[in-house]
Amino acid sequence: MVSLEKRLDGKVCVIAGASSDIGQAVARRLELEGGIVIGIDRQNHSVGSLSITADLSVEAEVVDAFARIRRDAGRIDVLYNNAGLILPGDKSAIETSTETLDLIFAANFRTTWLCCKHGIACMLQNDPAKGSVINSSSFLVGMGAATAQMAYNAAKAAVAQLSRDLGTQFARQGIRVNALALGPIATPQLEAVFARIGEDERERRFQHMPFGRFGTLEELAGTVAYLASDDSGFVTASMFPLDGGIQGAFTVPASR
Ligand SMILES: NC(=O)c1ccc[n+]([C@@H]2O[C@H](COP(=O)([O-])OP(=O)(O)OC[C@H]3O[C@@H](n4cnc5c(N)ncnc54)[C@H](O)[C@@H]3O)[C@@H](O)[C@H]2O)c1
Repeated sequence: MVSLEKRLDGKVCVIAGASSDIGQAVARRLELEGGIVIGIDRQNHSVGSLSITADLSVEAEVVDAFARIRRDAGRIDVLYNNAGLILPGDKSAIETSTETLDLIFAANFRTTWLCCKHGIACMLQNDPAKGSVINSSSFLVGMGAATAQMAYNAAKAAVAQLSRDLGTQFARQGIRVNALALGPIATPQLEAVFARIGEDERERRFQHMPFGRFGTLEELAGTVAYLASDDSGFVTASMFPLDGGIQGAFTVPASR
């Protein structure tokens, strides 16, 4: 029986999009469980025992980053794809420009695909081949949104489909691939948006959230650690719900 804190003992865990609050929270948790964390981000950062700066939407930079990880750490066991972007110009299909769509797809989908492409290639070289990939998607991809972020939702839907395909394709070679159907997580940016919209509007939105609150960084990090570990060894090709029940709820009364 492996002790809970050491579920990831000695495992090389790559976090792509590491410098965000979510990336840092996940790094802390994976290290606590014994993982050797390597962070990659396009912003300069110091997350992990090896911190790489790279634009993960550019294939040559992804190739270099993963070659360096193979050289320095020898293997990759876990890959958490967290890079992403939202833009104010991303609205309905009628209003959104092609420039906005390209930027959103590059940051949310292309980064994830390229890291899967080169990260899974590394995992297949482990002896025996083995690894767990966790991709950041959104609960929104299974729903129609009246106030759409069209490009973001479509890019996260592409991430979900990529994850199902890869999880199915590589299951018998020891590689698991899951996507997180993420609901609202309490990052400073999200808190700031909700602080700006006013009390009534905030309450209107919270009515659709069974818990009446955002998820915490710790709850997200704990779920990533579970999906990274062998405790989730029979879980693959899933849209793993981390949304506080939003997808299961029709409407929720404000108070009981
Ligand atoms: N915060 C939430 O409530 C929420 C909800 C649903 C999904 N998500 C997803 O979770 C992930 C993290 O969200 P966040 O709120 O921490 O976002 P964030 O913008 O704070 O972090 C994203 C990180 O990705 C990095 N990044 C973006 N493009 C990159 C590129 N081309 N190359 C390398 N790094 C790149 C950024 O530098 C940043 O560090 C995103 O994929 C987001 O879509 C978040």
